[in-house]
Amino acid sequence: MPQEVRGVIAPGRDEPVRVEMIVIPDPGPGEAVVKIQACGVCHTDLHYKQGGINDEFPFLLGHEAAGVVESVGEGVTDVAPGDFVILNWRAVCGRCRACLRGRPWYCFDTHNAEQRMTLTDGTELSPALGIGAFAEKTLVAAGQCTKVDASVSPAVAGLLGCGVMAGIGAAINTGAVGRGDSVAVIGCGGVGDAAIAGSRLAGAAKIIAVDIDDRKLETARGMGATHTVNSRATDPVEAIRELTGGFGADVVIEAVGRPETYRQAFYARDLAGTVVLVGVPTPEMKLELPLLDVFGRGGALKSSWYGDCLPSRDFPMLIDLHLQGRLDLGAFVTETIQLDEIEKAFERMHHGDVLRSVVVL
Ligand SMILES: NC(=O)c1ccc[n+]([C@@H]2O[C@H](COP(=O)([O-])OP(=O)(O)OC[C@H]3O[C@@H](n4cnc5c(N)ncnc54)[C@H](O)[C@@H]3O)[C@@H](O)[C@H]2O)c1
Ligand SMILES: [Zn+2]
Ligand SMILES: [Zn+2]
Repeated sequence: MPQEVRGVIAPGRDEPVRVEMIVIPDPGPGEAVVKIQACGVCHTDLHYKQGGINDEFPFLLGHEAAGVVESVGEGVTDVAPGDFVILNWRAVCGRCRACLRGRPWYCFDTHNAEQRMTLTDGTELSPALGIGAFAEKTLVAAGQCTKVDASVSPAVAGLLGCGVMAGIGAAINTGAVGRGDSVAVIGCGGVGDAAIAGSRLAGAAKIIAVDIDDRKLETARGMGATHTVNSRATDPVEAIRELTGGFGADVVIEAVGRPETYRQAFYARDLAGTVVLVGVPTPEMKLELPLLDVFGRGGALKSSWYGDCLPSRDFPMLIDLHLQGRLDLGAFVTETIQLDEIEKAFERMHHGDVLRSVVVL
């Protein structure tokens, strides 16, 4: 029987979000219904509301979530009712050319539930990133559920579903930060701070945090930054070179998504170093660089989709490290809120007051 639960809808471009009753179908083949326990508020949810992702309103917002599987459809064997899971937005297909080459984290054909959730009048909803978890329950593809140790707090676990995984993965997967490396992270929001925490976990010797907001630099220190640079006051390229014996960092992670910060990252790395772009640019942005510098400085210029993570490999591992006290995921949760407080959370995010507000249900 389809069920009615409360969920947070973005009804139209720039209209305030509101809580409405939504209809969750029974899971079909390959699908699962998950009872949501916590869901973080991410910048991407705000982009959906503003119409910055696409025009497929109404959206069911929320995608950084953890909860308990309530029911599964035919053919689902990897998860079962009662499992505590983190939801991911890249359920790999196992059949595309990336998967077949043994690189499933690049999967070119990720999928979501086939059935649609609706409003009570039958209007179909577009779930944010194929998840839609600012709701008491949601319908996803079973491959979007990754079982992890249930003793972790759901508010903490859910964060691995998006920004925190993207940042940690940008460092440990895409950037392959290793023991003794020097790392610079430009932009210290949730994603940049996670890249800092990931770099510390990987054994980086020097971690330089760059931001334009001193409050963010303060938090970055708590996450593991060994040095901080306010790039409003100081040229970050010069500062990073100075802090690395005049050479630049081995890995520079750009977690803002703008041409000027990408350029800083490009010139702040050592010869043959790596730049990782995890910040997401907008369509009108352009980058111009001397091609000779691209050649002459060597190394690697990489992008990081979702931290090049493989949920089945990375989520349980990171939760275990957190439970062992080796990775403080709790530090990313600034506040916990209710379903009807999301507009306020967007406000605070906009003013840079929070790393993450997390809805708990
Ligand atoms: N690649 C992925 O899979 C993925 C996943 C999630 C988020 N993201 C992206 O990562 C980026 C960061 O996300 P977030 O949640 O941390 O956002 P956020 O808004 O919390 O953080 C951005 C930080 O950048 C700082 N900043 C802004 N302009 C700057 C500048 N010119 N120089 C230095 N710092 C500057 C801000 O002060 C802030 O601390 C966004 O572009 C987001 O879309 C990417
Ligand atoms: Zn694939
Ligand atoms: Zn997100």
